[in-house]
Amino acid sequence: MSGRSSTDLASGCRDGGGPDYPEGERDRRRTRLFFNLVAPAFHFIDRRLLPEYEKLLDTLSLDPAWTALDMATGTGTLAAALAARGHHVAGFDFVGRLLRRAQRRVPGGRFELMDLADVHRIPYGSYDLVTMGYLLHGLSPEMRRFTLCHAARIARHAVLVFDYARPGPWIVRLVEWAEGPHYASFIDRPFREITVGAGLTIVQSGPTSDVGGYWLLRPSRAGG
Ligand SMILES: C[S@@+](CC[C@H](N)C(=O)[O-])C[C@H]1O[C@@H](n2cnc3c(N)ncnc32)[C@H](O)[C@@H]1O
Repeated sequence: MSGRSSTDLASGCRDGGGPDYPEGERDRRRTRLFFNLVAPAFHFIDRRLLPEYEKLLDTLSLDPAWTALDMATGTGTLAAALAARGHHVAGFDFVGRLLRRAQRRVPGGRFELMDLADVHRIPYGSYDLVTMGYLLHGLSPEMRRFTLCHAARIARHAVLVFDYARPGPWIVRLVEWAEGPHYASFIDRPFREITVGAGLTIVQSGPTSDVGGYWLLRPSRAGG
């Protein structure tokens, strides 16, 4: 896999050039603690999200031969939906409790305990598809751009994002308030603004549930 230098990347994210992660260790420790605490609730969350992911993947004509990397895979719900469609999947997350469940659900998948802070280690163009489910709303605006920028660097053909597309009821707002301070700044902005400067173009988007949506994006360099 070619190692493209940071100067080639209009979006400014770096390839193998060391961490340029815009958030501190303290913020990440807080998020890790939150997801460790709420890990048991993922049995309920998974049952809600799996049909959302499956239904949308059924409507997209993604080539099942495409390899997929699911960033912040959690318990591997999106990875499981991708594997069921024939994709060879890999995933990472920084909460071991969740990741062990992902490995049990997708025995053929390759899962790694890893922080987004280390995403620069994943080589340029090393997967056909990069996915992320309900990750971006929990990150700061700078971190969202960083994440999308690296997704664009890693993906050969497409990036698929699932997340909140409209404000949720009080229970969603309460849970997101507990997760951290970034939900409001995500939900208040059009998604297209979030992608500015990340080297991605939105090719398709739409709702997936009463509050959720998806965005299929193409890395700017990808042909066609
Ligand atoms: C709302 S959960 C979604 C999990 C999964 N993508 C899904 O669709 O079910 C957000 C996930 O992001 C992970 N995450 C948040 N910040 C991270 C970071 N800095 N590095 C790795 N994983 C992170 C959490 O551990 C959690 O599993």
